[in-house]
Amino acid sequence: MSDNTDETGFELDEAVCICSGTTKRKIIELIEEGCDLDTVSRKTGAYSGCGGCEYDLELLFDAYQAK
Ligand code: FES
Repeated sequence: MSDNTDETGFELDEAVCICSGTTKRKIIELIEEGCDLDTVSRKTGAYSGCGGCEYDLELLFDAYQAK
């Protein structure tokens, strides 16, 4: 892992959700604001297309959501 990646494997400016082009940076920002998956989806369009990003979004929530 480089400094820019974590267990999710995405670079900060890489799209986690290909359908919406939502970057890892944007998703982390919303998670840290306290948004749940529905809110992140509504605000960014992530997880509102093919659903292929579901696993990656779960990884990000597991890694960055306040415990
Ligand atoms: S990759 Fe996120 S909805 Fe398709």
